[in-house]
Amino acid sequence: MEHHRLPLAILCLIICSSSLYAQKFENLALTPPMGWNSWNGFGCNVDEKLIRETADAIVWSGMKDAGFQYVVIDDCWHGDRDAQGFIRPDASRFPSGMKALGDYIHGKGLKFGIYSDVGAKTCGGRPGSRGHEYQDAMIYASWGVDYLKYDWCNSEGLSAVGAYTTMRDALHTTGRPIVLSLCEWGENKPWEWAKNIGHLWRTTGDITACWDCEENHGTWSRWGILRIIDKEKPLRNYAGPGHWNDPDMLEVGNGMSAAEDRAHFSMWAMLAAPLMSGNDVRKMSAETRQILINKDVIAVDQDPLGVPAFPAVSENGIEIWARPLSNENWAICFLNRSDLPKTIDFDWKNRYIDDAMSSRQIDARKTTYGVRDLWTEKNMGTTDAPLRAVVPPHDVLLLRLDKTGDLRP
Ligand code: GLA
Repeated sequence: MEHHRLPLAILCLIICSSSLYAQKFENLALTPPMGWNSWNGFGCNVDEKLIRETADAIVWSGMKDAGFQYVVIDDCWHGDRDAQGFIRPDASRFPSGMKALGDYIHGKGLKFGIYSDVGAKTCGGRPGSRGHEYQDAMIYASWGVDYLKYDWCNSEGLSAVGAYTTMRDALHTTGRPIVLSLCEWGENKPWEWAKNIGHLWRTTGDITACWDCEENHGTWSRWGILRIIDKEKPLRNYAGPGHWNDPDMLEVGNGMSAAEDRAHFSMWAMLAAPLMSGNDVRKMSAETRQILINKDVIAVDQDPLGVPAFPAVSENGIEIWARPLSNENWAICFLNRSDLPKTIDFDWKNRYIDDAMSSRQIDARKTTYGVRDLWTEKNMGTTDAPLRAVVPPHDVLLLRLDKTGDLRP
């Protein structure tokens, strides 16, 4: 009898202390995560060939050098559970197994991401993690998983805080640092409670590759770029290093015009959003690639201060967004929401921009900034002179204001 007590006491100590002191892994997403996810481009059509070829393409296309890191397999990779309840991949789609795939991805210097769901079934009807959270976390860690996107389908009757905390604790117990991406669509306002649970949280329903639409599916909708941007407006004060608002994955290269793709990518960078590409990177056009690997735009997204932009001015179909950057610099995005080209005549000296949240101001009467266009990669003088430009419809003029005036040629 006695000799059973000690192991039990030790087990209890481990379980009790791990749940009492459980936490998310810190320092994993000090800037918004960047990578690729299978869902927007491929839906349920995932297999190991696609994932390997995508990892290869992320390297040869220059995306890896630009900062894209996580290769995430979304829904539908799953097979069934074994007799002990451990999840297995669909053997016909992933015949080499997930450990081998993780090794392949790591061999390319990239990181491995996977998908599950709080309910008994995923959105795509595959086995979810309900009741198997610790087993799933264990097996993901054994496969070398670095990132888990955790969805919210079939969650009836569950507490969102409880369900996501359980998976956080399960992941933490494995000892492997794994980014936890909450995909709860903003239904329970995760920005108010998820800071200590996950590293990013979806703020909206699913995105779709259109400029300004709602694709209504009855009980749920997909949203176009402007609709999602508008939903982000009240949320900027909730995001920061290690905990990000996630306005959903990128649709760049998935059918919108180049201008719309550019505006979408620019605004995600302004919002300090995770940059998860969602296109077929093996076959993308040179134009799509140039958008995705623009290092100056990515540097805005990845700015270490981690303060998202706010809409400072709205006039005549143009919205002017401002994002305070480190080193007292700023990013400014003139977003042309309209269907017509718009002429900008913007006299910095008469436009005082104040951000109460970060206690930062642009006062061009006191400070001269150098102005750089991040898409043409050209310097445009300084804020001493008024800005004159034409922004095409559904496009942006994205600028960085450099306080030092120390601009690259
Ligand atoms: C939900 C998510 C999507 C995707 C699908 C997969 O709709 O919001 O991002 O993961 O499920 O079925």
